[in-house]
This record gives sequence, structure tokens and C-alpha cells, in this order.
Amino acid sequence: DGELSLSRSMINSSDKTIRKSGSSIFHHAVEGWKINSSLVMEIRKNILRFLDAERDVSVVKSSFKPGDVIHYVLDRRRTLNISQDLHSLLPEVSPMKNRRFKTCAVVGNSGILLDSGCGKEIDSHDFVIRCNLAPVVEFAADVGTKSDFITMNPSVVQRAFGGFRNESDREKFVHRLSMLNESVLWIPAFMVKGGEKHVEWVNALILKNKLKVRTAYPSLRLIHAVRGYWLTNKVHIKRPSTGLLMYTLATRFCDEIHLYGFWPFPKDLHGKPVKYHYYDDLKYRYFSNASPHRMPLEFKTLYVLHNRGALKLTTGKCI
Ligand code: CTP
Repeated sequence: DGELSLSRSMINSSDKTIRKSGSSIFHHAVEGWKINSSLVMEIRKNILRFLDAERDVSVVKSSFKPGDVIHYVLDRRRTLNISQDLHSLLPEVSPMKNRRFKTCAVVGNSGILLDSGCGKEIDSHDFVIRCNLAPVVEFAADVGTKSDFITMNPSVVQRAFGGFRNESDREKFVHRLSMLNESVLWIPAFMVKGGEKHVEWVNALILKNKLKVRTAYPSLRLIHAVRGYWLTNKVHIKRPSTGLLMYTLATRFCDEIHLYGFWPFPKDLHGKPVKYHYYDDLKYRYFSNASPHRMPLEFKTLYVLHNRGALKLTTGKCI
């Protein structure tokens, strides 16, 4: 598919090239940005050949019964039992069925958001997608608070909520979820072994506290389908990051997609340090081989799509 394939030089360009291309060029591109609706439609159509986000965004109750055994998506040798709690939290129908929006924000977690003043702009979108239960209240001016859809890798329980060791960790978690109201909480529970206890604890807390959040658990085929789409477009991604997954899903529901908080580089265009996450002290792991992600490659891909009017990437301040 020639339409979407990205120039080799763009993909091979080092981080330096992006920085060298200069803030002026990048900001100019932001100022003069215009949506290319026919390209948006074409991308949606092409992605639909690989996955239907309405369906693949979550498995539904009728897919399983309690006690069913499934194989982990990225570790087929290991298995998981569908517990009673998990089954009771599966949605009856896709939480995204028939939902369509004019403009959506997908908010990544880069420190580039700090001091951006983008909160109001982010909250002005019809539908706001966030990643990994990132905190918002303390950062509202820069990241906004509206959260219609929020992802949560099981590892978040350990990283941000002390593995639920203390009552106060559990309370903090329940408080965070209660703020979400009826938003979608998207938990990739079937990817790899390791987080099953965390998922069970999360499920138990949701049930015990009768939280209204609408849980969703991505289909077993989603990640392969997303990877397949990008591979076909010559973007060689080992394992798509949550942010890229969200953009890919959003193409089904949103006419105009605005990305914020995507900046997988330790420095900004002026050479100033940028935190990996806007809210914690996690380091840039993906520069090592230990990371499954290729975020700089993903970023370059999104940058090309921005320049073509398929999406809008904001990496500077919002005015
Ligand atoms: N992101 C980015 N630049 C950063 C940090 C994050 O572009 N410095 C984007 C990525 O697309 C990422 C998303 O924001 O997927 C959410 O961030 P994070 O919670 O760190 O994402 P994960 O994909 O869950 O990363 P990991 O699995 O390595 O924890």
C-alpha cells in the first residue's frame, strides 16, 4: 500500500534528525496544520481490514464462561483461568458500540506535557483517551482531567499503587477509579503472564466497592492485528505501545484525532531535558533492548501522519 508507506529516510533518521529539523519547521507544521479527511477515511478503511475496534476493543461476556482456560496472547505456552470475578466484569456488548466523535484526544504520558498549558484544549475534545491510569488532578492545567477511556496495564498496580500492600494504597486506587465514573477502564489482562494477581485484586476492588467504571479487556487478536496493520505499512514495530494502540483504535470512532504527550526523547527541541512520564521518575527504558517498544520509530510514523493531515500531533505549548 503505497499511500501510507513512509519514506525510508524518515524512518531511518536518527533522533538527531528530528531535533535538527528544527523547532521552527516543526512548529510551523503545527500552525499550518489542516485535516486531510480523505486520508483519514482511507486509513480507517485500511485498518478495518485488520481489526474492527468496535469489536476488538473488548471481549464480551458471551465469549467465555467462568473456568475457561485461555492462552496468553504473547506467551502461548502459559494459560489463564477466567475467574468468576473477571467474567462478571466482562461487558455484555462492546463499550464502544456505535460511538462516534468529531474530535478525540489521545494523551500519551511524556513529560513534554509539563508546562504545556494543554489541559483546557485536551478537555475540549469530544472524547479523551488516556494511558495507564496516569494522574490528572495535580496536573490539570497541562493535561486536563476529562477521561472517557483510560488504559491500565496490570503493572500499574505495582508501580503506582504499592502492589496494594497497604489499605491506603487500595483506598488511593478506589478513589482514582471512583473519579472515572462510567468511563471505560481498559485492562490488557491477556497479554503476558505475571499480572494475573493484580488483575484479580483490581476486579475484586471494583466489585466490592460497586464502582461504576465500565471495564473492558482487549480481544485476544487485537495486538496481532494492530501490529499486522503497521507492518503492512512498512512500520516494523515489535509490539505497539499503548499510545499507538489507542491511536489505531481511535481511527474507528474519531474523525479528527489529536495526540498530546507523545515525545519519546529525553530532550526537547531546544535541548532541555524531558521526563519520560509527566508524573513519575521512570527512566527511558526503551533505548535498551529490554524494552519491547520502539517508540522513536512510532513517533516518526505519527510525525509523518501529522504532516499529511491524518492526525494532529501537539508537542509544544497550547495557546
Ligand atoms: N509516550 C511517548 N513518550 C514518552 C512516554 C510515553 O510517546 N516519553 C506514549 C507512548 O505511546 C506510550 C503512551 O504514551 O505508549 C503511554 O505511556 P506509558 O504509560 O509509559 O506507555 P506503555 O506503552 O504502557 O509503556 P510500557 O509498556 O513500557 O510501560
